[in-house]
Amino acid sequence: MASVIYYSMTGNTKKMASAVAEELGVKALSVKETGLPEDGTLFIGSGCYGDKPGEDMAKFIAANDFTGRKVALFGTSGAGAGKEVSAMAEALKNKGASILGSYHSKGRAFLVVNIGHPDRDEMEGARQFAREMTRIG
Ligand SMILES: Cc1cc2nc3c(=O)[nH]c(=O)nc-3n(C[C@H](O)[C@H](O)[C@H](O)COP(=O)(O)O)c2cc1C
Repeated sequence: MASVIYYSMTGNTKKMASAVAEELGVKALSVKETGLPEDGTLFIGSGCYGDKPGEDMAKFIAANDFTGRKVALFGTSGAGAGKEVSAMAEALKNKGASILGSYHSKGRAFLVVNIGHPDRDEMEGARQFAREMTRIG
């Protein structure tokens, strides 16, 4: 079974994680409240803070062995550039993971930037991503 683990400071990535989890028929887990599930594909997501994933997510990746694990990554950011996803991919590969794919979108930032993001299309994109990753994972 797949697991969805996320870090979200202001709720955007949590919203995306919930949609991904719903698509997979599981519950999204905050990285603050879970350890590494023993098996199954991992969907890992974070917001972007100073071009990096949240500190709790960085710590989670650093603290675990991902050898042989398949990981699908997602994230939200103000710029929508996916730097949080690239940084997680790099860190996870160094910990032995193989990256199945990734998805990222804009997220509302600093109250007034990107209002409404992730929007309907971006959320549908996340759901589609979840289905596609399940197919190849
Ligand atoms: C402290 C802080 C730092 C941020 N740094 C960046 C950044 O470096 N690049 C970027 O594109 N967005 C940045 N943002 C915007 C967030 O990445 C964006 O709002 C994202 O959707 C937050 O995800 P969350 O709601 O799941 O926490 C920052 C936001 C905060 C609060």
